[in-house]
Amino acid sequence: MLVGVIDANESHRRQVAQALVSFYQVATYSTAADAVADLGKRPLCALLVDQSAPPRGGGDFVRLIRSGNLFAGVPIVFTGTGDENTLRHQAAECGADCFLAKPFRRSLLIRAISQQINKTVEKKWEALPAASRRALVGTMDVYNSFSDVVEKGEPVAYAQVLSACGPLVEAVGMQEHKEILASIRSHDNYSYAHSLGTATLLVLFGYAIGLKDPDLSLLGSGGLLHDIGKMSIPYDVLNKADPLTPEELTLVKSHVPLTLQFLGQSAELPKNLLVIAAEHHERLDGSGYPRGLKGSELNELSRMAAIVDVFCAMSERRVYRPAISAEAALSIMVEGMSSQLDQTLLALFREMLLDTGR
Ligand SMILES: [Fe+2]
Ligand SMILES: [Fe+2]
Repeated sequence: MLVGVIDANESHRRQVAQALVSFYQVATYSTAADAVADLGKRPLCALLVDQSAPPRGGGDFVRLIRSGNLFAGVPIVFTGTGDENTLRHQAAECGADCFLAKPFRRSLLIRAISQQINKTVEKKWEALPAASRRALVGTMDVYNSFSDVVEKGEPVAYAQVLSACGPLVEAVGMQEHKEILASIRSHDNYSYAHSLGTATLLVLFGYAIGLKDPDLSLLGSGGLLHDIGKMSIPYDVLNKADPLTPEELTLVKSHVPLTLQFLGQSAELPKNLLVIAAEHHERLDGSGYPRGLKGSELNELSRMAAIVDVFCAMSERRVYRPAISAEAALSIMVEGMSSQLDQTLLALFREMLLDTGR
């Protein structure tokens, strides 16, 4: 998933590349000519063109693209400074798909690109039952806002997370989890899809063991937030097909302390939400990370989080492998991870998925 960025301003190119680091591969250029020379042969998923892009301005370049075969079908986000209405007009007039007025928040940039790339996927959300649709739209918005938390060290707006989780809890309570999981399956934002998938199945798990709100909302919020530290880890490492080097593995594992660091900016988060973030990679036999906790050191919530996280990760398609079926994922978890995962809870989880026809 490659995004091209054309902007004469070096610091702006750097900021955009940093904002997108975990979501896409990014190639930046100071001129349109450099971009054409380099990107002509590479598959692009979106292009960001700045109004001032040399030599003749971004508008001219976008018009040129739209009148020929270059970058055919690639969505273009037009960026620039000044009055929003003028920029909107310039973007529409040259044939760009949308615009962003500088300075923009990280979350708006990610949202704009993701919306363009996932147009078809997100269009289908409109036909879903109301609670599922609200759950998807609300959690997508709040998930993107976490990128501002990561960038600026702002506290997580927990009230917003909770209000995005309300429709999720409601939809799962009405057995609409299958629609939600199916709706994110082909979304390109893997981190969002994984987080919402985890949130959805944690809530379903919560219902299955008899929990009620506010515990169900806590499970949903924990699922949405449990991996936000991954927003600082490069796309190429998160999506590497070959085995990770020891350094890359250390980097991937650092998403747990990074998540806790970001969540730590907010004093209002419930302790149990932090448990989900801190312990979803811990394993009963002590082989997990970051602390190597084992047995009774892991409470029911950590054990549930570990089961759901593993199941979701296996059930998701990756750049380098297709999704593993629910049945295959469950048998790997039962047969290959018996000392790592709580087998009583796993049996309950399995039964729950069978009952609800996941
Ligand atoms: Fe994780
Ligand atoms: Fe995860």
